[in-house]
Amino acid sequence: MTRLKWKDEYSVGDGEIDRQHQNLFSLIDRLEDHDLDASALAITFDKLDLYVGEHFADEEEKLIACNYDDLDAHIRQHNEFRDWLNTAKESFKSANEANMSIGSNVHDFLRDWLLSHILTADQAYKDWINK
Ligand SMILES: [Fe+2]
Repeated sequence: MTRLKWKDEYSVGDGEIDRQHQNLFSLIDRLEDHDLDASALAITFDKLDLYVGEHFADEEEKLIACNYDDLDAHIRQHNEFRDWLNTAKESFKSANEANMSIGSNVHDFLRDWLLSHILTADQAYKDWINK
């Protein structure tokens, strides 16, 4: 699998948000570096709770502050991700032993979701938060 490489086009023009997005990229790469094993997965879930909790809250706060016109749809996407995370954590916990398919499903979902969210939904608010 190819590593996630940060590109300038991913920037939303806000240093704090960009740094948080980069941290999420590192988290996904780290999971891959550890061959998607059970302990790496457990650490990934813990960190995701922390990073995503903080990141979505910061982003939503900024979007509210600039009166972003598509706020509800954006928050809906974040909530869908929060739901996915809770479900994924539950199925990880209830599995006797994490296997490659759980690890790679989680990895692939995270990578695809993050890239498409950053490239579309997050780019859409770029002009608003930089006004
Ligand atoms: Fe977002």
